[in-house]
Amino acid sequence: MATEAAESPLILTLRDLEVQANKRLPKVTAEYFADGAGDEQRTLKESIDAFARYRLRPRVGRKVSSIDAKTLIWGGTSNFPFGIAPSAMHQLAHPSGEVATSRASSSRRIPMILSQSANTSIEDVTTASPSHTQRLYAQQTTLVQDWSANLALFRRAERAGCKAIVLSVDCSVPGRRLGEMRNGFVKPAHLVFPNIDYGDAPNLHTARLEKRRAVTFDRDVTWEMYKKVVESTHLEVYLKGILTPEDALLAVETGVKGVVVSAHGGRQLDGVVPPLDALPEIVEAVGGRIKVHVDGGIRRGADIFKALALGADFVWIGRPALWGLVYGGEQGVELAIDILAEELLNVMALCGALTLQDITRGHLGRYTADGLFEPLREQ
Ligand SMILES: Cc1cc2nc3c(=O)[nH]c(=O)nc-3n(C[C@H](O)[C@H](O)[C@H](O)COP(=O)(O)O)c2cc1C
Repeated sequence: MATEAAESPLILTLRDLEVQANKRLPKVTAEYFADGAGDEQRTLKESIDAFARYRLRPRVGRKVSSIDAKTLIWGGTSNFPFGIAPSAMHQLAHPSGEVATSRASSSRRIPMILSQSANTSIEDVTTASPSHTQRLYAQQTTLVQDWSANLALFRRAERAGCKAIVLSVDCSVPGRRLGEMRNGFVKPAHLVFPNIDYGDAPNLHTARLEKRRAVTFDRDVTWEMYKKVVESTHLEVYLKGILTPEDALLAVETGVKGVVVSAHGGRQLDGVVPPLDALPEIVEAVGGRIKVHVDGGIRRGADIFKALALGADFVWIGRPALWGLVYGGEQGVELAIDILAEELLNVMALCGALTLQDITRGHLGRYTADGLFEPLREQ
């Protein structure tokens, strides 16, 4: 299947990959990956649609025979300005799970954020790729009630060579994912969660039912606690799930390295502002004092270009990596990365942007309420 995945002429876009992945999955699993929160699933759809409202304004007459999309992140170099967002349970997608995702991201030299709810330990993920390759990993976490369990995960991430802690701040209570409820979705009993300390409980589910503090998300998190996280680790800290400039400004005060503008792929609170639409005012508010990343709804290279033009320093992809994993394990994830990378390089060339620094708001425009086309003003 791997060779087929790498060579298949039918898979030219991430949409093609999604269709093929869904053919290979049981309905309940496919819906678990695809699901959004709420009965409207508005945020899920709008996060994707937000990109289509912008039109590209290409510039010509530039020497575009050599395009460079490299960028710095976490003190290293990523070949492209995108990486793999944290998503739970990669072994639901493919038996090789997070090890395959890790190898694919490292072979393409892009970063990966490991979910706290991964089926593979942070130590196995960071050592999955050959030792000579650059290792750009971060550990995602949602704070649990037992502070010592939070600290223990930071220490493990540090020892495993992670470069950052990504604190998801939008999920101390779970979103109402009605599809999962209707399907009666439960985490399969055979899957383990080695980055969560559920002690001597037989599995995570039981430990949560027993309300063990090391596995129970802390619902009473404060900005003081985000600050405490920054003080508790030498790793860079990012807050994932910021959607307003007000919170972005508070983030600046905590000493975090950056924020990820994110609606959790539409899986938490339905009806929020799509991340792409929240991005410009957050970029303006923080004024370069911290990094601004974005995720949600990125399905083509042009979407990455648009996010960067609106001021994002970096973008993350969630479901597309999962589709690749389902379709072809490690090679499938590489295929997803390659499609996006090729599309991005193509758009950069056709827009006359030789490097990421050349991408500006001037490359974008949109229609006003009276139907007239208006270029974006440079800030
Ligand atoms: C199946 C699935 C599981 C996810 N699990 C996590 C998680 O464990 N932690 C987290 O911070 N975000 C999680 N996310 C959200 C992603 O990190 C990311 O914000 C989102 O998928 C981006 O949107 P996209 O899927 O449209 O690219 C998950 C997303 C999906 C689809």
